[in-house]
Amino acid sequence: LAPPRLAGRRVLVSAGPTYEDIDPVRFIGNRSSGKMGFALAAAAAAMGAEVTLVAGPVALATPPGVRRLDVRGAAQMREAVLAAAPGQDVYLGTAAVADYTPVQVREHKIKKTGETLVLELVRTADVLAEVAAHAQRPRLVVGFAAETEELEAYARDKLERKGLDMIAANEVGRAGQGFETDDNALAVFWRGGRHDIPRAAKGEVARQLLDLIADRLEAQ
Ligand code: PMT
Repeated sequence: LAPPRLAGRRVLVSAGPTYEDIDPVRFIGNRSSGKMGFALAAAAAAMGAEVTLVAGPVALATPPGVRRLDVRGAAQMREAVLAAAPGQDVYLGTAAVADYTPVQVREHKIKKTGETLVLELVRTADVLAEVAAHAQRPRLVVGFAAETEELEAYARDKLERKGLDMIAANEVGRAGQGFETDDNALAVFWRGGRHDIPRAAKGEVARQLLDLIADRLEAQ
């Protein structure tokens, strides 16, 4: 019997959204459920990898054999991912990290005094780009791209700009796949290549993506 394909590999996965607090009762977030990232963590562990999962606020059980670190905001996710990155073979940036966060978190609940409310936001650090530029960078840094149009052009732009080895793009505008759903479909790009994973349950899509990743690790 052949050993599992990811035996001896260390895989770091980020999953879910981040919540950026506005005041003690409100936050800015997005629609990620964490299902895709948790499916990747589960599939990587089943393929023999030692898996660390950094999870934003989600309502999902930890997959068997996976080490899980829970975080809330983008700054916390950055800290946890950068601390865990050295010594990893693969980073899978599945998390939908907030791009902007409030300049200040109000100490008390904001009262409904005006008809309009202006919130000042500031850009968050790009966790994926920082992992890719890290001195002790994982051998394969894989990003995700959630797009509603021009999938290939935007995904390839992120691949180059963020210094990635591979990017998995999903069209989040289509019903039944992408955010929150049980199914997904991915178009995977790397320099000089493309592979399409057709719509299937996220567990199956995860296994196919990890097979592509195992091919790349074995070719290195
Ligand atoms: O969680 P599910 O409901 O199962 O949905 C899965 C998913 C659609 C969220 C997932 O498959 C996905 O596409 N994740 C990435 C979503 C996203 O934030 O895409 P983006 O195009 O905004 O970001 C591109 C890449 O940069 C991502 O790898 C993201 O993790 C990373 N990023 C973005 C901003 C930031 N500040 N730091 C980052 O690391």
